[in-house]
Amino acid sequence: MASLPKSVRIVEVGPRDGLQNESIIVPTEKKAAFVRLLVAAGFQDIEVASFVHPKWVPQLADAQELIQQLDTSPRVRYSALVPNMKGLERAIESGIRRIAVFTAASETFNRKNINRGIQESIAAFKPVLDRALKEGISARGYVSTSFVCPYEGTIAKEKVAEVTRALLDLGVDEVSIGDTIGAATPKDVENTCGYLLTQFPAASLAMHFHDTYGMAVANVYQSLQMGLAIFDSSAGGLGGCPYAPGASGNIATEDLVYLLDRIGIETGVSLKLLRRASHFIAQELARDLPSRVLKTS
Ligand code: HMG
Ligand code: MG
Repeated sequence: MASLPKSVRIVEVGPRDGLQNESIIVPTEKKAAFVRLLVAAGFQDIEVASFVHPKWVPQLADAQELIQQLDTSPRVRYSALVPNMKGLERAIESGIRRIAVFTAASETFNRKNINRGIQESIAAFKPVLDRALKEGISARGYVSTSFVCPYEGTIAKEKVAEVTRALLDLGVDEVSIGDTIGAATPKDVENTCGYLLTQFPAASLAMHFHDTYGMAVANVYQSLQMGLAIFDSSAGGLGGCPYAPGASGNIATEDLVYLLDRIGIETGVSLKLLRRASHFIAQELARDLPSRVLKTS
């Protein structure tokens, strides 16, 4: 059996990817309290907000206020999505030090999500990333619909590689490979990531699995066996994507941490304190979250 990584970096995306699809608007100070609990649980990378158009994602309209309420720590990197120059200007004003630009491997999905074609979006990211990097702001990139698109079906691995390369060439330090609608299986991961790994180092790739079909944990395990060691997840399994019909939340961070703890892979995250954060946000949303591990005591 392939040797597994000794440690994994988790990018907690609950406050952004998780909350963006929730219809109950969480007050800014409660979001800040949620993020504080996540920091206490040990996360070092937390995606906290989005500088997209507030009409498109009303839940995240308070990005700037939220970021200003967060405690800074040299141990923790907060990040926020930025779709264009207007978003970057808002991000700079908020004081955030890391951004994420996002495009897709499917033309149709990208148009629905950010109203731009893939090439057009990449061309528009160039001045955004040039300016961010000049300001000392670091950046990651996302490639949505890297396996299956709700409009175009199966996505070719060559297309995922092409978009990944374009983002890395613009200066992002890692690219998150998104299974936006949670439809990929370990076989798809083996196929697409096997191809990506012939071109890019594992350290430049993060995996972003949604869990619509319950495949996310299996997909993580497949990725680990291929040497991939950066995973995005969402506390309690919050969320979904508002522009991907039927998509449910990210892999629940509890389910990810339980797996990694049990197979001896370091994460730096306390499952006990993570549960506290997830229970807190579940209460704010007045609903049970889907994580299986969270349901156990
Ligand atoms: P647009 O309508 O094409 O924008 O939207 P525009 O450039 O034509 O501008 C129209 C108006 O919007 C202008 O105002 C701009 O100033 C304003 P006006 O002059 O008419 O008064 N505007 C903005 N305002 C605030 N912040 C901005 C901004 N940009 C323009 N950043 C846009 C283009 C990208 C803004 C829009 O399509 C948008 O906000 N989309 C958001 C989509 C989104 O948030 N999707 C969910 C996140 S992606 C995701 O979840 C996937 C991921 O998790 C990975 C995975 O799972 O695969 C990352
Ligand atoms: Mg997502």
